[in-house]
Amino acid sequence: MSFTRRLLATGLLLGGTAFLPAAAQAQGNLVVYCSVQEEWCRPMMQAFERATGVRVAMTRRSSGETMTQIRAEATNPRGDIWWGGTGDPHMQAAEENLTLEYRSPRLSELHDWAVRQAEQTQFRTVGIYAGALGYSYNVTELNRRRIAAPRCWADLAKPEFRGEIQVADPNTSGTAYTMLATLLQVMGEEPAFTYLRALHRNVNQYTRSGAAPARAAATGETLVGITFLHDAVTQKIAGAPVEIVAPCEGTGYEIGSMSIIRGARNLDNARRFYDWALSPEAQNIAGQANSYQLPSNRNSAIPPQAPRFENIRLIDYDFARWGSAAERTRVITRWEREVRAGSR
Ligand code: F6P
Repeated sequence: MSFTRRLLATGLLLGGTAFLPAAAQAQGNLVVYCSVQEEWCRPMMQAFERATGVRVAMTRRSSGETMTQIRAEATNPRGDIWWGGTGDPHMQAAEENLTLEYRSPRLSELHDWAVRQAEQTQFRTVGIYAGALGYSYNVTELNRRRIAAPRCWADLAKPEFRGEIQVADPNTSGTAYTMLATLLQVMGEEPAFTYLRALHRNVNQYTRSGAAPARAAATGETLVGITFLHDAVTQKIAGAPVEIVAPCEGTGYEIGSMSIIRGARNLDNARRFYDWALSPEAQNIAGQANSYQLPSNRNSAIPPQAPRFENIRLIDYDFARWGSAAERTRVITRWEREVRAGSR
């Protein structure tokens, strides 16, 4: 089956690209695994197609799911580049030799935090954006239940929040893993697991995707949604009655990342996408797509609505430790055994 027919059969082809002029078709193909919100994945791929004539096939999955998929496909890779998603699973993929070293000529334009991500993985991944973790709550529902507004992580473990909290599953979601690693760093491991067991009693659902709880808090389906702050901002700007909280004890953050998959069939186009995705032109698409992370290129525009790190009590997140394969696997396994398996 031809590449195009294969894409049509799997529903991967983006609108209209099969009809590109011959000159553009000569630019070839690219298979992108995208781990940000679909609303941002699509305009990015379309802009890259327009800029280069390369035909893009994209699938969207959460960070942990994508890492699992890339590992499962290691002997017969189908993807070329993994764009977006939290940095920890990108670092694990680098350590497991699933991704390729690449030094973009644009590295010198990036913030230190983005370059550090590259240096810590022998240039197998790079930072493309950053964002802090926290939660949002539905003000209408909070007032209706006459519950005091939460300000801290500790508040979410209180009995009045029983069944009122939504957060993602760390097996699939990078957001949820960032929460585990954050709490372990803020509280210390044993108190953090005691806290997580108490929080578990208050959780109504563990979602697959990290941003889903922000949407659920916006509609009032849940009272509180634990997510990155920028995902809650998207809902607030759309008019949802939510308040956004950067927890008082301090919080962690992500370095959203990008990696080229080892065995990429369209390696030249993967590098082309990589360089382009680090440019201000590409990074400025985020704000237009209602995504409010902090971009990694120093010359990109910071969306005015993006939560700024200087206003948040941030921890010194140890990415080398919590992004290591051993720690990520150990912490998620312990959470499965001691938290998820417990009754609510
Ligand atoms: O696109 C929103 C976002 O929160 C990104 O900032 C983040 O990298 C990604 O989603 C994480 O998604 P998930 O938790 O589903 O892996």
